[in-house]
Amino acid sequence: SGNGIAIQIFPDSDLASRAAADEIAALIRSRASEQRCCVLGLATGSTPVRVYQELVRQHQDEGLSLENVITFNLDEYLPMAPDAQQSYVRFMQQNLFNHVDIPAQNIHIPDGTIATEDVPNYCRDYEDRIIRAGGIDLQLLGIGRTGHIGFNEPGSTADSITRMVTLDPVTRADAANDFGGIEKVPSHAITMGVRTILQSRRIRLLAFGDHKASIVQRTIEGEVSTDIPATYLQSHSDVQFLLDPDAAALTS
Ligand code: F6R
Repeated sequence: SGNGIAIQIFPDSDLASRAAADEIAALIRSRASEQRCCVLGLATGSTPVRVYQELVRQHQDEGLSLENVITFNLDEYLPMAPDAQQSYVRFMQQNLFNHVDIPAQNIHIPDGTIATEDVPNYCRDYEDRIIRAGGIDLQLLGIGRTGHIGFNEPGSTADSITRMVTLDPVTRADAANDFGGIEKVPSHAITMGVRTILQSRRIRLLAFGDHKASIVQRTIEGEVSTDIPATYLQSHSDVQFLLDPDAAALTS
């Protein structure tokens, strides 16, 4: 399979975020005009924050309705209480859900309170819900310095589905500030799998800053390998990387 990753380099991360938000808004509107739902796969972390800000702005200032939107978040720490400071439930409420009109029953985020023995059933159900919603129309992604997408760390295979994973030490170090020390970062997470992500119709990955330049280059130019799960994106037929100049600096 050829390398299908299209790269767009923007003058800055604000403009890249706006472009992603504009595409999402256009998709929501086009689905609404056909009285259909728009299924979005969503990411947390620092990278997509301004995409969500722009969607909130368009909702408040330009009458963009998100009533027909169904969302599936990529991942959540395990264990994690939904009201904890670092939970992805809280992140999504603060950055998007509290400010727009997505119906509460349309929102799906992996449950960080699930008991270990119930995780396999819970994950199967998460996959089923995505399928029953009609599949993900557009999946928003960031990328970790380990090459993870979602929390699919090195070693994740192309056929992996939603499941419990162990976080890479690099990922836990990157989250240490948010938790007040690496020892307080959960060791596990629930994440959509590589296959789950690749089944999305469109994939839009955002990466900003010089700390992402090396992993972006290896993802785009390297061999497809379980060592860098993001390289599996090379086999997808509609994937775009939206980069700022710093993140694109090492990519030829
Ligand atoms: C978050 C997620 C992760 C992040 C990645 C980059 O839901 O799935 O893959 O996208 O760790 O995080 P930031 O954007 O904070 O650099």
